[in-house]
Amino acid sequence: MNFVGEHILSVAQLNRADVEEIFAVADKMTPFAHRERITRVLDGAVLCNLFFEASTRTRLSFGTAFNLLGGSVRETTDVGSSSIVKGESLKDIARVVSGYSDVIVMRHSIDGAVAEFAESSRSPVLNGGDGSNEHPTQALLDLYTIQKELNARKKDLDGLRIAMIGDLKYGRTVHSLIKLLTLFRNIRVHLVAPPDLNMPETMIAELHRVGHEVQHFEQLEQGVQAVDVLYVTRIQEERFSFDAEASEYKGLFRINQAVYSQHCQPDTVIMHPLPRDSREDAQELSVDLDSNPNLAVFRQSDNGLIVRMALFALILDVVNKVEDHSTPVGWFTDVRKWD
Ligand code: NCD
Repeated sequence: MNFVGEHILSVAQLNRADVEEIFAVADKMTPFAHRERITRVLDGAVLCNLFFEASTRTRLSFGTAFNLLGGSVRETTDVGSSSIVKGESLKDIARVVSGYSDVIVMRHSIDGAVAEFAESSRSPVLNGGDGSNEHPTQALLDLYTIQKELNARKKDLDGLRIAMIGDLKYGRTVHSLIKLLTLFRNIRVHLVAPPDLNMPETMIAELHRVGHEVQHFEQLEQGVQAVDVLYVTRIQEERFSFDAEASEYKGLFRINQAVYSQHCQPDTVIMHPLPRDSREDAQELSVDLDSNPNLAVFRQSDNGLIVRMALFALILDVVNKVEDHSTPVGWFTDVRKWD
């Protein structure tokens, strides 16, 4: 696809070549994310982040990605402080905000709300997560991470074996990731979830349509065996009608070092879109895995920055101008330690 000026609302817009193009541009962004080079290529451009639902890393990484390309960021961070509470329609907000910004990122609690908003926006809109529907940029950074981790283990995306664990019904990140996996070959997916939180049938049908192998597991210990990647998810309590219902499932599946050592292959990559729920009753991903080198969750969140930089560069048509508008190093020293 030609990304210039396009909305990114669903991964269904992308084919394999598009995904590979995004990943190639993301690789080019790494020196800028690591402050080895500085670019001002988006000098004068404005991103508006409209986050009508809780977020830390998605909002900050979109904003930081834009800043690292030289652009400015404006944002609203909750429904309570926006004119939505005065009854303003998405259509009106889109007309207004697209007059202020070159690109917009929006997160909303209702499935399809970002697409509805985009219809009335004059600027390109990126979906930062809409209800339990999709989270396309998260799935792209997840797949980018999977590819990097597999390559480091002399494996490839084609032939991937992945276990998706937890709330597969409401988790929008796994919904988008499943769709991206249909672009690759010979994949085996273990769906590890209680029957009531299983992946929607339409998405399982997508996997079957392209010939991928799908297996269902209700026991964690069985589902995590013989896979390259564990993709753990949080019970999406905010999507349940009653808190009590969510509590039934919290803590049902817990990945910790003991489960990993006993049941997983020794180089299995451990992923999670984050946030992990560290409260006593949940703990789907134990902190005792933090010293396990196969825990990729923070490499995953770091990758969010370069993948989002790549999307902005593609949409605003500056991929080939980034270098020309850059200087070798910043004026300050990057004192952080990168993996
Ligand atoms: C996810 C989301 O918002 O869907 N978080 C994120 O963006 N990294 C996953 C979650 O909240 O569980």
